[in-house]
Formats: sequence, structure tokens, C-alpha cells
Amino acid sequence: MMVSSSRLAVAVLSIGLLCVCHGFAPSALPSRLHQPSKSSSSMLQMGLDVVTYLRTEWVSAALVTNQTPRSADVCLQLGTQDGRAVQFVPRTVREIITSSVETDGVLPVSTRRQLKQQKERRSGSAKINYIDQRADDLKEVANESVDVVISLQSAAVMAENGLDWKNSVKEAGRVLKHGGRFIFVEQTMLGGEDYIDFIGNLRPPRDTTTTKSADREEEEDDFSYAPLFELVGFDDVDLVLEPHVAGVFAKSEIAGMSVDQMEKKEANKEKERLEDLSLAAYERGIKKRKRKKKPKKGEAAASTESSAE
Ligand SMILES: *[C@@H]1O[C@H](CO)[C@@H](O)[C@H](O)[C@H]1NC(C)=O
Repeated sequence: MMVSSSRLAVAVLSIGLLCVCHGFAPSALPSRLHQPSKSSSSMLQMGLDVVTYLRTEWVSAALVTNQTPRSADVCLQLGTQDGRAVQFVPRTVREIITSSVETDGVLPVSTRRQLKQQKERRSGSAKINYIDQRADDLKEVANESVDVVISLQSAAVMAENGLDWKNSVKEAGRVLKHGGRFIFVEQTMLGGEDYIDFIGNLRPPRDTTTTKSADREEEEDDFSYAPLFELVGFDDVDLVLEPHVAGVFAKSEIAGMSVDQMEKKEANKEKERLEDLSLAAYERGIKKRKRKKKPKKGEAAASTESSAE
């Protein structure tokens, strides 16, 4: 099983690059996999069969470890159910923010304990910010304040508990910085809906000050605005009984922009580029003049030289 795991094929979509070179190849097997007693209790918790549990566990570890950018400081987990996040995120992450799959938003005591245990085991890693908030209502987290959101087998549990997994993804889109990543291992289909399609088609909420309220009812179908997320890459998790999908989205830099705004942005970019060029040319000019001055012939000589230019 270990051999076949490392051969997991990676589908790379044209939109972005999922780093195939080291993606999906975990360097170390999470230690929990060697503790059958603990795994089986989590298995019951997540309601998955043994095979699906082990496979998704493996893929989650690999994906989070390899697809979290080294520049990421803050990581939020949608629906924290155990201590895995501590183990999976790279050591460069400084803060892990929790959210709950429970309707009262309270993080269960057992989850807190598991997070603490993992943190003790992995000394010197991220600070854990234990927040009692529902995964579908991240009320304690500011807009655009998070570098990475991870969602590991939590959407189905949310649905089971009466939480709105779709809203949890929208909330992820809200708290993520532009360019921030949404990393997931979830069931392929949830309540008859394709998980990836739902996220790929998501539009950010429109600014109500510029939109007439009458138009707002159609906003879900309004495709003249840029989507919230861009798909970086995904793959079906193989060898499982319950179909799962693993992948990465990035919050779009142009999320919510209209076609007009996008064109304006492009035009601005071009303008900025030209300005940068002329500025660079100007700076080169200054350097040249400075260089000319360098062979110190005395102040008078230098000033006559520059006035002659
Ligand atoms: C945060 O984002 C939401 C949705 O994108 C928006 O409605 C809200 O006004 C924003 N809040 C702040 C403080 O900018």
C-alpha cells in the first residue's frame, strides 16, 4: 500500500501549476497511522470505512505538507475534529486557527486535547488559536487575514450535523488573503452536488452600494464577474470505497471584478509597467551621471561637466 500511495497520479489543470515534482509524496508517514487504536476511534468519528480513512489520511498529510506555501503564516482549519492539522502543516506556519463542526461552535474537549498532544509532540511548531466558532460562520476571523484554509473530511460531517458546508467555503473565501490557498480532501459529491464544481463557480458577494437590490437576486447566476477561486489542481483519491477528491484552489487576485474592471486593471498594469520602465531609465541615467562624477577632479570640474550636459 505504501508503494502505490507514492505513485498517486496528479492531474494538473492548465490554469495553474500543482507542483508535481514534490507534490503528493510525503517524506514521513504520520505517526498516527501506526496507532490502530487511535485511528479506529477517529474512524468512527468521521464515519468512514477503514480503507477510505487511511487513504484520505495519507493524502491529507501529503497535500497540506506540500501545498502550503513556505511564506504562509496563518492557517485556518474548517471543522477541526482532531489534532492532525498540527502535524500536517509545515513548521513555517506560525498560527493555526480552529473552527468547529458542532452547531454550538464549541470545539469539543477531546479535539482540544488532541491538538495539545500533537503540539507537545511537535515542539516549537505553530501557536494554536483555539476559537469557538462554527466552520460555516467564522465570526472571529477578519476578512483577508488568513494565508491558507484547510478542509479535511469535514464537509460531510458538517452536513450531517446540520451545518452549511457551502457557507464554510464562502467564509474561507472571505477570510483568505488574495492569492491565499484553499486545500481540501473531501467527498467528491455532497448532497448531490459536485464539491469542486461548487467551489469553482463561486462568486464573491457583490458590493451592495453599487448594485441595485433588484439585481441582487440574480447574483448567483451572474457570470460577468470573476469567480472567487481559481483551481490550482486536483486529483481523485484512488483506492477508496467512498469517492473523495483532493486538491488546491487559490483565491483569485481578480475575484469579483467585472469585465470592465478587469480590462481597466490590465490597462493600469500596462501603464504601471511603462512608468516602471521610464523610472528605471531615469534611475539608470542618474547612476551614469554619478559615475561620471566619480573620478574626482575637484568640485569645479564636476559642476562644469554637469552643466555642459
Ligand atoms: C468582509 O467581507 C464581507 C463579504 O465579502 C463584506 O460583506 C464585509 O463588508 C467585509 N467586512 C469588512 C469589515 O470589510
